[in-house]
Amino acid sequence: MKNCFFCILFPLIFSFHKNDKRFDNKDQALYKNADFPVGVAIKIKRLKNDAIYRGLVREQFNSFTAENIMKPSYLHPEKDVFYFDDADYLAEFCKKNNKRLHGHTLVWHKSLPSWVENFKGNKAAWEAMLKEHVKTIVIHYKGFINSWDVVNEAFNDDGSLRKNIWLKNIGESYIEKSFIYANEADPTAKLFYNDFNLEASRTKLNTVLQFVADLKSRGIKIDGIGMQMHVKHYYPDINAINQAAFKVQENGLLVHYSELSVSLNKKNKSLTLTNEMLTLQKKKIKEIVEGYMKLKKNAQFGITIWGLSDPAVAWQRDKNIDWPFLYDQNYNPKPAYYGFLEALTEKTGS
Ligand code: G3I
Repeated sequence: MKNCFFCILFPLIFSFHKNDKRFDNKDQALYKNADFPVGVAIKIKRLKNDAIYRGLVREQFNSFTAENIMKPSYLHPEKDVFYFDDADYLAEFCKKNNKRLHGHTLVWHKSLPSWVENFKGNKAAWEAMLKEHVKTIVIHYKGFINSWDVVNEAFNDDGSLRKNIWLKNIGESYIEKSFIYANEADPTAKLFYNDFNLEASRTKLNTVLQFVADLKSRGIKIDGIGMQMHVKHYYPDINAINQAAFKVQENGLLVHYSELSVSLNKKNKSLTLTNEMLTLQKKKIKEIVEGYMKLKKNAQFGITIWGLSDPAVAWQRDKNIDWPFLYDQNYNPKPAYYGFLEALTEKTGS
């Protein structure tokens, strides 16, 4: 019965697709014009249930990052319970469609399950818990995921260590231990430290790079830095962004623009999206991609945009409406999409 239902439904969906103008620019697919992986953060419910979303992410991108379902609270909801179903679905989709899947994120101060927040034990117990968490997940996805954001947002903008639950119960060594555990679980995986404002705060960037250099000098494997790149159309300026990226490269580290978004709303200063704002966003995206293209090819891990389409409601922590991505909320490409494509096709990265 089900098969018969599907055999009726599928052609309808497919015919809708065929006649939808959004899919007639196949030769304009972003990743097919790039010398580096072009990624997108994936909303699993849309991937499963929204045919247009699924078609666009498949057509335009060759690297996926789970926006949420591979965070600790999702994958490890109870101390002795791991939940892999949704992430397995995404991993299978990536394998079937020849997409890279980047793992985000193993160790963070947010998206923690309550059992971790309430965990009681001495330092050794916390280390054992962290080890089991990291190794179980990395081993489970060996062969599907070849790169991980091992630790996310461990530093403050002033260069101090963020006072999170891991620092409190294990100490500063939680960071290196996380990388050691991930490497033990999958020695072939590329391991990243991921953070925001590395393109904006030279203090934070220098502290992170110094910290990573120290770990590497002690034989601990860290392959790259995820510069999240949640920027605004007016800040930081492109020179600061490019200088930061080149500094990461100079430290022998891969550069992943891991969560690119270009916000337009200065704290509700303008609730109406204007053509001028869209033009400014296009210019910023184009500059960012052009600058990235000037990095050495072997430093380019890729550019991942932190969502396919603009949210219909408030986004990010300041809960302002914003329009940070390449497609509008109806899945139409914005000027920012064409800014990204122009940077790739004009090859001005020389
Ligand atoms: O799925 C539940 C839903 O069932 C529930 O009804 C709803 C209301 O409580 O919450 C939903 O979960 C939310 C989830 O997004 C899915 O929408 C969580 O509350 C909310 O905290 C979560 O926000 C995510 C945030 O990270 C915190 O994990 C954002 O979507 C995600 O874009 C954001 O991404 C982070 C990166 O991982 C790290 N860098 C910063 C970046 C932006 O904040």
